[in-house]
Order: sequence, then structure tokens, then C-alpha cells
Amino acid sequence: MTHESRTYTTARAFCGHHAQPGVTQVPGALDWSQQETTPDQACIEAVLETVLLPGASILHVGVGNSQFAHRFAARASRIDGLTLHPNEQTHAATLGLPQYTVYLLNKYSPAFRAVLPHRYGWIIDTNPAHFACCHHHFWLMWANYLGVLTPQGQIVTCQRGMNASQADCGWTMTYGDLLRLEERFPVQVAPLTDGVYGIQPRDTTSVRRRRVAAEAQGCAVATVDPGPAPETGPMVPSRVAGGAHRAQCV
Ligand SMILES: C[S@@+](CC[C@H](N)C(=O)[O-])C[C@H]1O[C@@H](n2cnc3c(N)ncnc32)[C@H](O)[C@@H]1O
Repeated sequence: MTHESRTYTTARAFCGHHAQPGVTQVPGALDWSQQETTPDQACIEAVLETVLLPGASILHVGVGNSQFAHRFAARASRIDGLTLHPNEQTHAATLGLPQYTVYLLNKYSPAFRAVLPHRYGWIIDTNPAHFACCHHHFWLMWANYLGVLTPQGQIVTCQRGMNASQADCGWTMTYGDLLRLEERFPVQVAPLTDGVYGIQPRDTTSVRRRRVAAEAQGCAVATVDPGPAPETGPMVPSRVAGGAHRAQCV
């Protein structure tokens, strides 16, 4: 099978790797420190230019040449970045941006959340499946992102990046593939512009309202689906679309 034809449907369920899944062996693909910003990222940067508010907290997945941080540092309170190559980390440090930290961290790794100490209003990933090894680690990556995203934050990706896959791994994604996220996680996927997409925690306003109401009744609110709602209990569970949130007396 040529890599042009790889899609989510044809990808493996599990790659068998635990510590470092989704690492391409293609020479040069992991060290983009001396390369031009890709057109994929340029699309996302153009959108951020219009929507980013001062004080933004950003996680940039795949920092490449760090021009992203250079461009947005003045209006961000923090930019953390991820890379798999030490040259990109070293190059980032030479910029001397005080609010910019680059981690050598695999986005598909189970260690992700233990390494990143912050939460972010924006997570930028131009190529979510570009380096993916299997379904298991692809979904783990989204769980990783949602674990460090603020409740009002959003993950931003783009169709140009989703159109490509690496020669030895990854798969292409359609917008329909991205919508599968809504079946797995309490999120809403929507276009920000033609070809740039945002993924946000779903229905945060109603969840907040329910939390206030539930707390007033002495209840705790689970924000990620902890399993099927109980049939009976001291409080009738209130579910939102997709069963992603429910109030629960503890
Ligand atoms: C082709 S470069 C793109 C750089 C930049 N985002 C741009 O678009 O110009 C791919 C980037 O993704 C990073 N990368 C590749 N696989 C990764 C993984 N599994 N986890 C985190 N970063 C990864 C590489 O180190 C590199 O920074």
C-alpha cells in the first residue's frame, strides 16, 4: 500500500509501541529547525492573527523553526512547544524568549500529561495524524490535548496539514474524520475559516450552569464521562448531547 492511500480506516488498531509511538524514521522529518514554516502552519497563523487576545496561553505541537513563537510571543503570556528533535529545542532557546519553553515530548506518549505543567487556551497542531502509528495512540493524543486544554480553550488544526501523511507512518484526514472526535470526547468541531478547524470542549456554558446548580445541592459534577449513568440515585442524572457530561451526587 502506498502512503498516499493510508487513511484512518486502513490504519492499525495498535502499533505495539509503548514509550515512543508515532516516531518517523524519515531523515530530516523531525528536525525542521532550519526549514521554512509549512503552508499548513501559515494558514493557522493567519487565523490566529485575527483572533488571539493578549495574554493567550498556547501549546504549539511541532515547533519546527520556532517562527510561530517569535511571531506571537508579544501577545502571549506563555508559549510552550513540543518537538521530537533536540536541534529544534536548541534553536528555540537561541531566540531568548522568556515566555517560550520547548519540551522534547512525544504527543502520542502516555507521559504527556505528567510532563506538561500548564494548561492552555490554544493548542496548535497542523498535522494530528501525520505521524500517527495506530488508532490507540491517535486517540491518546486527543485525550492528552484535552487533558491540558482550558475549559474555554480550543485545539486548532487545518485541512492542508490533514491532507498529508509521512512516508513511513500517519494517514490523511477528512473533515468527516475530524468529526469522529465528537463521538469519543465531549467536544465540538467547527470550521474557523475555510480549511482551518477548531475543536472546543462542548457546551461549556450549560455545563457551568449545571455545575453551579449541582454544587448548590451539594453535588459534584463530572466533566468527562465516567461511564453509564446510574439508573437510580439521590439525584436524577442530567445528560447533554452525546452523554459527555452528567451531574452526579457523591
Ligand atoms: C514538518 S515539521 C513542521 C514544523 C512546523 N509545525 C511547521 O509547520 O512549519 C514536523 C514537526 O512535528 C514534530 N513531531 C513529529 N512527530 C512528533 C510527535 N510524535 N510528537 C511531537 N512532535 C512531533 C517534529 O519534531 C517537527 O517539529
